[in-house]
Order: sequence, then structure tokens, then C-alpha cells
Amino acid sequence: MQILNSIPELHLARRLMTGSVGLVPTMGYLHAGHMSLVDYARRENDLVIATIFVNPTQFSENEDLTTYPTDLPRDFSMLESAGVDFVFVPTPEMMYPRSFQTYVTVEQVSQGLEGAQRNGHFRGVTTVVAKLFNLTQPNIAYFGQKDAQQVVVIRRMVEDLNFPLKIAVCPIVREPDGLALSSRNIYLNPEERSAAVVLYNTIQTVNSHYFAGERHPNRLLEIANDVIKAEPLAQMSYASLSDPITLYDLDMPTEDPMLFSLAVQIGKPRLLDNCILPLSLNTRDGVTAVLGVDEKAR
Ligand code: PAJ
Repeated sequence: MQILNSIPELHLARRLMTGSVGLVPTMGYLHAGHMSLVDYARRENDLVIATIFVNPTQFSENEDLTTYPTDLPRDFSMLESAGVDFVFVPTPEMMYPRSFQTYVTVEQVSQGLEGAQRNGHFRGVTTVVAKLFNLTQPNIAYFGQKDAQQVVVIRRMVEDLNFPLKIAVCPIVREPDGLALSSRNIYLNPEERSAAVVLYNTIQTVNSHYFAGERHPNRLLEIANDVIKAEPLAQMSYASLSDPITLYDLDMPTEDPMLFSLAVQIGKPRLLDNCILPLSLNTRDGVTAVLGVDEKAR
């Protein structure tokens, strides 16, 4: 595995690459969720480029940029064992020199859900992802369903700006008790860690009502609220049922797939989780079809 520490090194390496390239962008402190993206990329491309960059523009002032966990030696050894060919690790100064003044903004789908809670977050994400796409020129870029809105926003950007690549969406990897893996889970103390299972319990409960025939978004959200309220350490940021393409809140029953997303503060971290209803769509093909594909192509 070659570690590329600068943009000129990446340019040179990219010029010499032949065959298809899969890209896995990350902020590091890797876990099995990131590694599942790497495994898909490894299987589906001749070469795999991973990137590790804690992107300052997607953190707002009150967020954890300076304390975001890092462990590069461990990340490198995980990536190397998984068969990654190149890892690009730029510094903030390389990505955002003093002269920097160009940002990519996706409008409507960036505004709700996480966008409403985190000012400027998606502008930072789309700007850095556009830069990483230009720098690495992948055939397929891999993203996790864990950040479902991020996928929807990036897919919109790819279509709107005609990036010549495909977006692959990979299902959420969970702990045995159902908690979605996240670099921020390390902030949970043991008591909070036990309480954090409430997110997955909420998904399961909402799903069982959906499975039993409940389709009214308001009713399903009431059920979600009740589960979260019953956990004293959990503070709900939002729970939402939205159209998986427009991300508009649903207010009428529908048989079309719905995106159920929730954000819950437990101790320090805000934890995110989501699922597509019906739950049978939460597979690699299902999530890619629902979240990652141009609606015109469906
Ligand atoms: P980061 O939080 O490091 O996540 C990198 C990728 O791993 C994202 O696509 C995310 O959705 C995916 N991922 C995280 N946890 C996962 C889980 N439990 N199961 C499956 N996939 C999971 O997302 C970012 O970084 C940044 O916003 C980035 C896209 C790199 C731009 O800076």
C-alpha cells in the first residue's frame, strides 16, 4: 500500500494507474463500517484508493473538530490488511490553502434533517467530496447508508455537476446489540453505551408496526417518540419519515419506500441511525436502488 501525503504525489500516482478505481473517502479512526466499504470497493475494482481527512469545513464552531479521534498507524494497518492500494492523507493546508474560496452547495436536500441541525455541514461535505472526486477520478465512490442524507446530497451533486462516476451505497454495519458503528461511539461511557441501543430498538419497533400494516407517518413517528422518551439518557434531536429522494417529510400514508431517520443525543455525542421501510430494502442493492441511483434511471 502506498501512502500519498500530498496532492502532487497523488496526481503522479493517479496518472500511472490503469484499470478501474474505487474510492472510499473517510475521516479516519476506522471501524468495521468503514472497512465494509473498503471490502466492496476491493471486490468491484482493479484498484482501491482510501482517503483519510478530517475535513474542517464540515464541522461547525460548536462541534468536535479539534477532539475528533485519530489513529493513523492503526488506520494504515487496517487498510493495508484489507488490500487497499493507495491511501491519500492530505493536511488541511493542502486542501484549503489561504487563497481557497470555492464551495459546492447542494440546495434543497441539504437543508432538512442533519442540515437543519448543523449549519454549513453539507456545504463542507460536498466541497471536500467534489475535491476528492477531482483528485482521485474514481469509477465508483463508496458511501455508507449510515449517513443517508449525505448519500442523497452527494448523489444530487454528482448528477447536477456531471461527475463521471457511480455512487455505491453500503448498508449500515452494527454492533451485536444493534448500535450502528461510529467513530463517535468512543465518547459514550458504559451507562450511555447501554442506553444507546435505544436507536436500534426504535428502528425495530417502528419496523414491526410498519410490518403489521401501519403506514401513517405521524403514527409511526409517535411510536418512535414513545420508545426514545422511555430512555432517560436519550434526548431526541429529531425523528423523521421522509421521501428517500427529495427528503421531504411525509405526511400521508404511502406504499413507496420511506426513509426513517433519527438523531439522538446520549451524553456527549449525537448518534444517528436510519433505515429504509420496508426493512427488506436495507441490503446493498436495496439501499443503492433507493438512495444511490438517479431517479430518472429507476
Ligand atoms: P466518516 O464519518 O469517516 O465516514 C466515512 C464513510 O463510512 C461514510 O460514507 C459513512 O457513511 C461510512 N460509515 C460510517 N459508519 C458506518 C457504518 N456503521 N456502516 C456503514 N458505513 C459507515 O462520512 C464521512 O466520514 C465524511 O463526511 C466524508 C464523506 C469522508 C467527507 O469528509
